[in-house]
Amino acid sequence: MNEKRFMITTPIYYTSGSLHIGHCYTTVAADAIARYKRQNGYDVYFLTGSDEHGQKVEREAAKVNKTPKEYVDEITNSFKDVWKLLDISYDGYVRTTDDYHKETVQKIFKKLYDKGDIYKSEYEGHYCTPCESFWLERQLKENCCPDCGRQTELVREESYFFRLSNYADRLIKHIKEHPEFIQPASRANEMLNNFLLPGLEDLCVSRTTFKWGIPVDFDSKHVVYVWLDALANYISKLGYLSDDETLFQKYWPASVQLVGKEIVRFHTIIWPIMLMALDIPLPKQVFGHGWLVLEGGKMSKSKGNVIDPITLINRYGKDAVRYFLLREVPFGSDGVFSNASLVNRINIDLANNLGNLLSRTVAMIEKYFEGNIPKSDVSSDLGKDLRSFALSLPKTVDANMNALKIPEALQSVWVLIDMCNKFIDETKPWVLAKGENEGDIETLGNVLYHLAECLRFVAVLIAPFLPDTASAMFEQLGVDSDLTTPNSLTEFGGLKVGLAVKKGDAIFPRIDAKKELEELEKLFPSDSEAKEEKKAEEIAKEIPEITYDDFAKLDLRLALITECEEVKKSRSLLKLTLKVGNETRTVVSGIKSFYAPDDLVGKTVVLVANLAPKKLCGIESHGMILCASNSDDTVLSALTTLAPMDDGLKVR
Ligand code: ME8
Ligand code: MG
Repeated sequence: MNEKRFMITTPIYYTSGSLHIGHCYTTVAADAIARYKRQNGYDVYFLTGSDEHGQKVEREAAKVNKTPKEYVDEITNSFKDVWKLLDISYDGYVRTTDDYHKETVQKIFKKLYDKGDIYKSEYEGHYCTPCESFWLERQLKENCCPDCGRQTELVREESYFFRLSNYADRLIKHIKEHPEFIQPASRANEMLNNFLLPGLEDLCVSRTTFKWGIPVDFDSKHVVYVWLDALANYISKLGYLSDDETLFQKYWPASVQLVGKEIVRFHTIIWPIMLMALDIPLPKQVFGHGWLVLEGGKMSKSKGNVIDPITLINRYGKDAVRYFLLREVPFGSDGVFSNASLVNRINIDLANNLGNLLSRTVAMIEKYFEGNIPKSDVSSDLGKDLRSFALSLPKTVDANMNALKIPEALQSVWVLIDMCNKFIDETKPWVLAKGENEGDIETLGNVLYHLAECLRFVAVLIAPFLPDTASAMFEQLGVDSDLTTPNSLTEFGGLKVGLAVKKGDAIFPRIDAKKELEELEKLFPSDSEAKEEKKAEEIAKEIPEITYDDFAKLDLRLALITECEEVKKSRSLLKLTLKVGNETRTVVSGIKSFYAPDDLVGKTVVLVANLAPKKLCGIESHGMILCASNSDDTVLSALTTLAPMDDGLKVR
């Protein structure tokens, strides 16, 4: 296999409603990776698309008096508009309503049926229509979908089943032998412990109660289960089982499949088993990234708190939006979108640090050297640190990109930008320009050359992330196209003396933060739930004085956290099991955004033990643990003791 080939995929997006900024997160990340690989000589295939079948689409189309096809056509066009606005460089766009896709899915179904991996039986169980997932009775939480908390429907019908169980052992072995297969590693453990090791049930892979899907060609009463249909997109677009398998032969297996954390399960259990059953190699890696959440919780259409990417792109430009998405969130964890953090990133990183550096450098070259890149000495002591750091950068960026540490890759480039700004402060070009000492003008030229050459490094390195910005920088620096490639970064000094720079518009105009935040607040009001909580807090501020007797009524105890899990239905709650001396208690605490369950197990905390029980999200909480936090709840810490103490002890 050619090592210089690289295939990357995003999930295909459900065609129900419009894309929000959270969706853009996956695709912008995939685009940056694809562009980075292309820039570094890889033959890349970047696949994305839309997921157009299923009961949900059928119902939504009916609601707006459209045929499902009319409905999905419109939505797919709107998706493509967003991708165009964001400069997404996909090589293939798959629609599950395309003919080649339908044919491939039908052939896959038949092939698995002929092999005996798919068989006919009867299904009775629970189905979550919004999530398009089946659940067993025992998997339901309070009779609701354990993933989204919504009501499931009881369905009973004749169905085809896929023998996942036949392949479970092989899959477990694969996951254990290939730690890179599921990333981040914590997600691999989650899959093994929660799904694979307890034993896989066969999967129901056809439905007869609705029509909007791909019919099973040898039993047309049935349509293929949407996830089987959807997952096949990754190979149908490559021509798998068609007359022309060239793309499939060339690019499969995919190098990286990016998916959000809630669909890792489908991509690391059902998908690899489909591939094993078809005798096709598994993707090298499935990477489960976190969510972009709002301060008040996850973005969702039902909450009405989605952030529209088009509005943001129109206000700030696509590169600013791309930068925010790529830089703000550690890839793999959840990250918070807030109007303030967006405006800050644009003003500080882009307008001040990068934009100003470029405009100052170009302006000084115009002012002091008639707009031509001045002569320099790239072996001088002056600028030694800049040179060595710049030369080391491509390697740093490469290591980060190979580990999909996109924010870290960008951050390392911004270190060079910061060094350049400091270099200006230290060398004071405007003083050198007075020419008071011998050699000042030469030194000035040397300073400006270093700055311009560093900016060229920066532009080459950020091109995959911020393509328009890189072009604008090359243009202002007057750089020839042969100096815009990674190959031109092996030596410092590529920038040719005498080139004409060309001052242009500010690449990122500074935003009036106060005014902008007020406008954004009108466009995307902060979550109303979060506001309610704030109000409660305001009221709590007027706290009366209490007597000693009042205080004595409190039973505060040390408690050891022995177990901790997320309350799935809630955006803020964790369920804690506490050992308090001889007693065991369940306490529900609103600290999910501050602690991962594993952080807390084994910790000793302070419990208000005689608080009346209260039901939170269906779970009865017996007491409350004490935490310190700031007024806007962005910082929080649970209380513990200075010295290790036994649980059950009284706090007074
Ligand atoms: O799941 N932050 O489609 P989808 C980050 N059709 N990522 C987010 C997000 C957020 N706030 N909201 C959504 C599907 N996403 C299926 C996939 S693949 C064979 C079939 C991500 O439109 C989400 O995690 O619900 C997922 O990876 C992608 O958007 C598509 O979600
Ligand atoms: Mg989803």
